[in-house]
Amino acid sequence: MAGDFSGFVAGTYLRGMPYVQAPTSLLAMVDASIGGKTAINHAGAKNIVGLFNQPRAVVADIATLKTLPQRALVEGMGEVIKHALIRDADMLSTLEERLEDLLALEPELATGIIARNMALKGAIVSQDERETGGVRELLNYGHTLGHAFEAAGGYEALLHGEAVAAGMVAAGEIGRRVGVTPPDLVERQHALIERAGLPTKPPAGIDRERIRAALKMDKKIVAGGQRWVLLEGVGRPVVRADVPTAVVEAVLDELFRA
Ligand SMILES: NC(=O)c1ccc[n+]([C@@H]2O[C@H](COP(=O)([O-])OP(=O)(O)OC[C@H]3O[C@@H](n4cnc5c(N)ncnc54)[C@H](O)[C@@H]3O)[C@@H](O)[C@H]2O)c1
Ligand SMILES: [Zn+2]
Repeated sequence: MAGDFSGFVAGTYLRGMPYVQAPTSLLAMVDASIGGKTAINHAGAKNIVGLFNQPRAVVADIATLKTLPQRALVEGMGEVIKHALIRDADMLSTLEERLEDLLALEPELATGIIARNMALKGAIVSQDERETGGVRELLNYGHTLGHAFEAAGGYEALLHGEAVAAGMVAAGEIGRRVGVTPPDLVERQHALIERAGLPTKPPAGIDRERIRAALKMDKKIVAGGQRWVLLEGVGRPVVRADVPTAVVEAVLDELFRA
């Protein structure tokens, strides 16, 4: 939050001044500090006023993570798992082998994984800085429903990384139903998310109508209708604009029933 806000202020104060990101949460290190998206919330809408503003540098010291609340640490794992799923099969295997060591911040492992995530996101953003050429869109894996869950929970029930985790589980299920995602990958993703202590569905009490409304809003904003990032395999995301609403509804039914 501090990084998104200060990046925005640095980009507008005196018509812009250089700045450096020094992230202190796992989510900010592996994701939010990289890529230049900065914004503030306004009139009840998240990130509605903002700009692309690249920092001169990003400096992350994993020692700061020692004081991070456990829930915030786990939240960051949502985006780490996302990166592995869309781009890095090796990292996915490492996460499966050493997830508990990573959550315990074993220094060499944590430094390596965080650096790898920063490089991975940096490489994607460098190819498509303003999300106009396609590849940056792949980072939205789990985010179509993730954002909807987050909004439906009034930005209180779920942290961003938690909403993304539940959104990935839902996207996996959607992918399976439209014949894109192999069932064993859906299972593998579910198991890792659960093991990390992340939610696999929106919490009880979240209003389904609010999820629908948030999805509709997303559809209006994004040119070409609702676009779903789905996984054909590990490291093989595809964007599909032809997912039937009935499939999304059926997956939501399942999440709400279970
Ligand atoms: N700009 C982007 O590209 C991008 C990408 C992903 C997420 N985000 C945004 O990032 C935000 C989530 O980031 P976050 O997880 O860092 O949440 P956050 O900034 O809300 O921080 C979580 C909590 O941890 C505290 N905290 C941070 N570092 C600490 C430390 N080292 N020790 C003790 N406490 C510490 C904070 O004060 C806060 O209470 C969301 O608003 C999300 O939308 C932005
Ligand atoms: Zn995200």
